[in-house]
Amino acid sequence: MTFNPLQEKGIPVEKQIRSWHEIAKKPFNKNDVDCYTRTRQILMNGIEVEAWNFKHNFARNCSDPEINKFTAMTRRIEDMQQTTVNWLTPSDQSVLETTLGYEQVAVDLTAWMAQNEPDPYVKETFDFGLLEDFDHLYRYSQWAYFEHGISPNDIVQGQTDVILSRPTQNHHNDNTLRLRKHYDKATADPQTKVNIYTLVSGEQQTHNYYAEHGMEYGNQCIRETYAEIKDVEEEHVTMYESLIDPSESWFEKLLLHEFTEVCNYYTCVEDEVDERIKRIWEMFLEYEIGHLKIAADLFKKYEKRDPEEVIGTKVVIPNRFKSQKEYVAKVLETQIQKRLSNEGMDYTEINKLPDDWKSYKVQQKAGEDGSPTEMVIQIMTAAKGRDLVIADKKLKDKQADLLEKGLEPKAQAPDTVSVEQMREMMEEEEIEHEC
Ligand SMILES: [Fe+2]
Ligand SMILES: [Fe+2]
Ligand SMILES: [Fe+2]
Ligand SMILES: [Fe+2]
Repeated sequence: MTFNPLQEKGIPVEKQIRSWHEIAKKPFNKNDVDCYTRTRQILMNGIEVEAWNFKHNFARNCSDPEINKFTAMTRRIEDMQQTTVNWLTPSDQSVLETTLGYEQVAVDLTAWMAQNEPDPYVKETFDFGLLEDFDHLYRYSQWAYFEHGISPNDIVQGQTDVILSRPTQNHHNDNTLRLRKHYDKATADPQTKVNIYTLVSGEQQTHNYYAEHGMEYGNQCIRETYAEIKDVEEEHVTMYESLIDPSESWFEKLLLHEFTEVCNYYTCVEDEVDERIKRIWEMFLEYEIGHLKIAADLFKKYEKRDPEEVIGTKVVIPNRFKSQKEYVAKVLETQIQKRLSNEGMDYTEINKLPDDWKSYKVQQKAGEDGSPTEMVIQIMTAAKGRDLVIADKKLKDKQADLLEKGLEPKAQAPDTVSVEQMREMMEEEEIEHEC
C-alpha cells in the first residue's frame, strides 16, 4: 500500500516536548557505525536546521497571530530534533572525519537524486554539482590521511571512490552564473520539489559546518582549504535554491518543508540498519506527520487550495543512500569538462569558453597566491611521492587523462598540479591507505 502522509495520524505537536535526557542521546560509535547511518544523520541535521530557520524567517515576515503561534511552537520542536540528530556525533570524531562524511552525503545523495529526477534540466544541475563535491572528497581525504593518519575508508567504508574530479580551483564562479532556471510550481513533480528542498538543506548545512569548524585546525593550509571549499558550498546553495520557483507562497513553502521532512524520515526508517537510531527516525516521522497536518490545514484555510495539488498523494523517496560508484564514474568520465555558460543559465564546455568568461576574474583573483586544494596534493607529493586515491584500477589509471580533460588551461593557480606532474605521480607506488 502506498504511504500517504496526509492520511496518517502522527503525534500531535503538544506531545512533542521531551526531557534533556531524551533530547541529548548517546552518540554512535565512530568505529562501528555504518557509513550510511552517518550520512543519514548528517543529512537529517541539515534538514532540521533548514526547517527551524525557515520558520524564523516566516515569522519575521508574518503578522497573523495564528501562523506565528504555529511556527513558534513547531520550530522549537525542529530545534530539539536538530539537537538529538546532530548530537549523535561522538566527541572523538574529528572535524576532518566528519567532513568526509559530509562529502559522502553530497556525492551519494546527489547521484541518487540525479537518477530519480524527472526534470532533465534539474538532473543536469545535480550531475554538475555532483562532480564538484566528488572532488572535495578527494582533497579532504588527503588532509585526513596527512593530519590524522586515517584512511578515508575508515569513514566511507569502500562505498564511495576517492579520486580527483573537476578540480576545486575551477569551481569558483561569478556567482551570477550559478543562478539556474527555476521549476514551475504548477507543473513540477513533487519528487523534483522534495529533491531540491533536500539538497539545498544538505548543501547549506555543509557550508555552515565548514564555516564553523574549518578554523579549528592550526595548520594554515587546512584552514585555507576549508575557506576555499566553504566558498564552493556557498555557490552550491545559490545554485540549488535558484531551482525553486520563487513565486511559491509562504504557506506553500511551509507545506513543502514539512513534506520534505516527512519524506526524508520515511526513507531513513525504511533503510536504517541500526535499531536504536531507527527508533529515533520512527519517532520523528510521527512528529513530522503532526507538523504536516497543521501545515496542510493552514494551506487549505489561507490559500483555499488542496494540499495534494502541491505534494501529491504519496510519499516520495529523496535519500536512498547506497553505493553510487558506477554512476559517479560515468558522470566523471563524460562531464568533467562541463562549465557554466556566460549566458542563458545553461552549461558549456572548457574548449568553448569565451575569453570574457565571467568566472575567470574570480578564479584569477582567488587563486593568485595559490589554491589550497592544489597545495594539498603538492604537500602529499613532497611527503609521500603522490596523492592518495581509492578506486578500481581501471578508473585510477585514467587520472591524468581526466585531469587533462577537466582542468581549464586559463586562470590556473601558481601551485596547480599539471597533467605532466600527475603522469609522473602515477608512476610512483600507491599509498598504503589501510593504516
Ligand atoms: Fe523536524
Ligand atoms: Fe562539497
Ligand atoms: Fe556541495
Ligand atoms: Fe517539521
